[in-house]
Amino acid sequence: MNHRIMIFDTTLRDGEQSPGCSMNLKEKIEVAKCLERLHVDVIEAGFAISSPGDFESVQTIASTVKEASVASLARANEHDIDVAWDAVKHAANPRIHLFLATSPLHMEYKLKKTPEQILEMAEAMTRHAAKYTSNVEFSAEDATRSDWDFLVRVTDAVIRAGATTVNLPDTVGYTTPEEMRALIEYVRANVPDSDKVVFSVHCHNDLGLATANSLAGVAGGARQIECTINGLGERSGNTALEEVIMAMHTRPGVWDYETNIDTTQIARASRTVYTIIGQSAPLNKPIVGRNAFAHESGIHQHGVLANKQTYEILTPESVGVQTNNLVLGKHSGKHAVDDRLKTLGYQLTPEELQSVFEEFKRLCDKKKKVKDADLEAMVEHRSIRQEQMDVEGYELDWFSVHTSNFTTATCTVRLKKGEETFEDVALGDGPIDAAYSAVDKIIQPPEHTFGIWNIHSVSEGKDTLGEVTVRLYANGKTYSGKGLSTDVIEASIQAYINAVNTFCAAVRKAEARKEKTA
Ligand code: KIV
Ligand code: ZN
Repeated sequence: MNHRIMIFDTTLRDGEQSPGCSMNLKEKIEVAKCLERLHVDVIEAGFAISSPGDFESVQTIASTVKEASVASLARANEHDIDVAWDAVKHAANPRIHLFLATSPLHMEYKLKKTPEQILEMAEAMTRHAAKYTSNVEFSAEDATRSDWDFLVRVTDAVIRAGATTVNLPDTVGYTTPEEMRALIEYVRANVPDSDKVVFSVHCHNDLGLATANSLAGVAGGARQIECTINGLGERSGNTALEEVIMAMHTRPGVWDYETNIDTTQIARASRTVYTIIGQSAPLNKPIVGRNAFAHESGIHQHGVLANKQTYEILTPESVGVQTNNLVLGKHSGKHAVDDRLKTLGYQLTPEELQSVFEEFKRLCDKKKKVKDADLEAMVEHRSIRQEQMDVEGYELDWFSVHTSNFTTATCTVRLKKGEETFEDVALGDGPIDAAYSAVDKIIQPPEHTFGIWNIHSVSEGKDTLGEVTVRLYANGKTYSGKGLSTDVIEASIQAYINAVNTFCAAVRKAEARKEKTA
């Protein structure tokens, strides 16, 4: 058997559809760029039928991505498949990914169909998809709780109908490594033309077994792994790309397979995805957590100083983490900043560099030592700021807050919009509440629910940059905004204004669309 494993990334579909992880178009494009730098084989860009926004993002990513195949998910019905094709058809290598459940539970209670009807649908809909492209993936949803002989019949039918990849997902994270390997082996052994297609695994992490199950599926003959950056995905997530890749990379004697992944891009991709969803990696997260390469205890430090391999099975550099953390400061020039960014893997245009450098200089007025993590946060936020500037709206001019543990917090805020300025003051249950109430008095956003306010420190130290994410919910959609500052109240206000601007712009757009069609 060939030893090449295809990496199918579904951060933008399975990852994005999970609570708290929704992304807007620009954010999805940022993630797609990371996936291209990683050299994944397939990018599942979304579920085109699920909303006009999803359709637009699948279509945009399909026409942007140069090398990877771009897939859209579709249920097994003609309309879904037609829309999926419409969204991906301009990709260099488009893929239609259709799915249909095959487990008794799903067939009876969710789909209300008999196994014979499911078999017919699977075959007919795969045939429909294959009219558009030869790059068709069929997923037997809940495969690991399906009858194995039924799976053999379905797999046989979809191969005959034109599927070129057959995915046997562990949809509810229920299986074990032994079972997963045996399942793939069984289906391969019993389907006559099984050598004509690529078998795929798509494992959820409900029991913390997704990585082990994926690797076991590969041992059973699967040659595609479906995964996500940071393991995002429904419930407890999907197989984490960084884990399966680094497992194979670190133990080639056990998993003697090849992928096309550039492992040095892993840390950056992880950081970008966490920044976008407004979270940071749990400290102990494998490969990408802050402690993954930290050695605190005396015994460990002693061992690592004598020989790194005593407690390190993979190097930080292999996943793109720089350990020679150079500290820059107010005497560092543009050249030094550019140099450091290049070492960190960021290639900026002269205009981008100029704007990051200006931000760097402003930061140096507040913070003596600017670390790699600060620089990386500034670069990531530059593209988000750019996007926020594209949304016509309000900007923070200044704010003044008074808070103590025995009085009610008060905040005065002055905002700018074009040439105009607006000022208001509000009381609140703490400085953030007061500031947000003052902003509300000025902008008066339409009705919405305040969702998440999330803060994390970019690096260590009391003067660290605080990165704040705010999410608002309205009309079934999420609107997010971000702020970055050494002053966490300023970062919070920026994040809120950005979220409100995005929300108001979307409302204006929807109203304009309505007026046009009226
Ligand atoms: O978990 C699952 O079964 C899926 C399919 C749609 C592939 O996400
Ligand atoms: Zn899934």
